[in-house]
Amino acid sequence: MSIKKIVTVALLALMSVSLVACSQSSKSAKEDTSLSDVQKRGTLVVATSPDFAPFEFKRLVNGKDTVAGVDVELSKEIAKELGVDVHFLTVSFTNVLGSVSIGKADYGISGISVTEERKKALEFTEPYFESKNVVIIRKADLAKYTSVDSFAGKSVSAQKGTIQEGVLADQIPKASAVSLTQNSEGVNELKSGQIEGIVMESAIAQGYVSSNDDLTVANITLKKVDGSSYAIALPKGSIALRNRINGIIKKLKKEGKIDDYVKKANQESEAGK
Ligand code: ARG
Repeated sequence: MSIKKIVTVALLALMSVSLVACSQSSKSAKEDTSLSDVQKRGTLVVATSPDFAPFEFKRLVNGKDTVAGVDVELSKEIAKELGVDVHFLTVSFTNVLGSVSIGKADYGISGISVTEERKKALEFTEPYFESKNVVIIRKADLAKYTSVDSFAGKSVSAQKGTIQEGVLADQIPKASAVSLTQNSEGVNELKSGQIEGIVMESAIAQGYVSSNDDLTVANITLKKVDGSSYAIALPKGSIALRNRINGIIKKLKKEGKIDDYVKKANQESEAGK
């Protein structure tokens, strides 16, 4: 064998050894400790964006800012079942998804729609709620905006990082899209005439419409999209924790608890307005 050949063979052998070592170490790094970590820590860390009543919103309790809503109740119940405390990390909606994907929270809950795209980066539980998209407008414009085309050239908003941005772009393509960090900003702009409509999910729209006499849901039917159900998002690989939560969600759904949470959250958020 020539020197060159010997060196090549040796190098190849070395490479295959390191490849095996590599795949082994990544295998052990990926060991799923998602459930045992929470149990050892004694606290479930939950990322949420409390700008989305009745799912999550801020509420003053005895002068203290707290989070309330369907997702908060659900998380308290999950923590109870796991025998741990719950800590809410409140961040913007985009950061809910971001902090979960980098493992800063055990999970994120924020009326998060399950989509094929998001499934690439996140692990999802069983769905716990079904949603649909609507457009809210000023009541005075009810006869003006009766089709998606009637928004041609008009400013319509959607919350940044949500699937409503996609709904707006795909289904109301002639509108001029405005991305806002929070729906409440959109509501103020809609009331003052800076924008003409907001795409949001029906359960959230109901809250704004019932507390703002001058707003209503437009008589326009939007098409069903990928992402019509809400689920909890976990970091990729958190299978043990996800499976445990799936069991809890199934039980709560069967007992009709999610509907109870929705009713309670609607009452609380109405009372806070
Ligand atoms: N369901 C939509 C989505 O997942 C909107 C969720 C917004 N949630 C919130 N807390 N602001 O894209």
